[in-house]
Amino acid sequence: MTQPHDPATTFRPDLLAGKHALITGGGSGINLGIAQSFAAHGCAVTILGRNLDKAQAAAAGIVAAGGRATGVSADVRDFAALQAAAEQAVEAHGPLDIVLAGAAGNFPAPVDGISPNGFKTVVDIDLLGTYNTIKAAAPHLKTPGGSVLSISAYGVPVPMQAHVVAAKAGVDALTQTLAVEWGLRGVRVNAIIPGPIDGTEGMARLAPDEKTRAQFTRTVPLGRFGVPQDIANAALFLVSDAASYVTGVILPVDGGQNMLGGAPQYGMYLAMQERAAREAAAGVSP
Ligand code: COA
Repeated sequence: MTQPHDPATTFRPDLLAGKHALITGGGSGINLGIAQSFAAHGCAVTILGRNLDKAQAAAAGIVAAGGRATGVSADVRDFAALQAAAEQAVEAHGPLDIVLAGAAGNFPAPVDGISPNGFKTVVDIDLLGTYNTIKAAAPHLKTPGGSVLSISAYGVPVPMQAHVVAAKAGVDALTQTLAVEWGLRGVRVNAIIPGPIDGTEGMARLAPDEKTRAQFTRTVPLGRFGVPQDIANAALFLVSDAASYVTGVILPVDGGQNMLGGAPQYGMYLAMQERAAREAAAGVSP
C-alpha cells in the first residue's frame, strides 16, 4: 500500500518564501494541513474561520513551529466580513500571492431528507462562499503571479450528497471560467478534489464508525484513507512556480477514487438501503 509522502524530502524548504496565503476554513482538517505545509515552506499564512478562537489557535500553533501566521474571523457567506478580513490579512502580511478557498459545510442527507434551507445552506457556504472569498481577495491578489486554489469534491454523482455535489460542480465551473478570464493577467486558478481524508470533520460525519470506514476504504484503488499531508503536497505543487503553466485544473487527490465514477458510493448506498429494508421487515427500529 502507498504511504503519505513527507514533503520535506520533496520540496525545497523555501519553496514559498516571501509569499502570503489567505486560507479559508484553515482552523482544522485539510485546510489546516495546507496552512502548516505552506508555512513550513516559507509562506506567511492568514487563517480565516468562522470561529476566531479556533483560527487564532491554529495560527498560534504555526507560529510556535517557527512560521508566520495570523488568525482572522469571517463567515464566508458574508461578503462584507470577508472584505474586512482580507484587509486585515494584508495589514498583517502584505498583498496576497495565494488564495485558498477551503471553507465548506457538509452533512450526509438524501434529497428527500433535506429542507430547502439545508440545501441552500451548503450551496451558500461551498459555492457562494468560494466566490465571495475569491471576489473579496481579488483586489489584493498579486498580478501577475497570483494563484487561486479551491477545495472541490467528488466530481461525480454521490448519493446522500446532492447538495455538496451540486455546489462543488459550481466551484469547478467557477474555477475553470476564472482560469480563462484571469489567464492574461497572470493569475492561475485551480482546484483539488480530495478523496476520503482522515482527521477531518467531513469524514467524521460521513464515516462515523469502523464499519463505514472499511466500506470507504474499499472505494479507493490505493486502498487507504488519505491524510491532510497528501492534499497539502498537491497544493504546494499547484501554488508553486513549478506549476506556472498549470491553470483550470480540477485535480483529484484521492487514491484513484474519482476515476471509478460514483459507482463505489452507489454500492455503499444500495447496501445501506438493503440493510434498512431487512431491519424494517424484521421489525428493528433504526
Ligand atoms: N441533515 C439534514 N439537514 C441538516 C443537517 C443534517 N444532518 N444538518 C443541518 N441541516 C439543515 C438544518 O436543518 C437547517 O435547515 P432548516 O432550517 O430547514 O431546519 C439548515 O441545514 C441549516 O442548519 P444550521 O445548523 O442552522 O446551519 P449552520 O449555518 O449553523 O451550519 C452546516 C452549517 C449545516 C453546514 C453545519 O453542518 C456546519 O456548520 N458545518 C461546518 C463544518 C463542516 O461541515 N465541515 C465539513 C466540511 S466537508
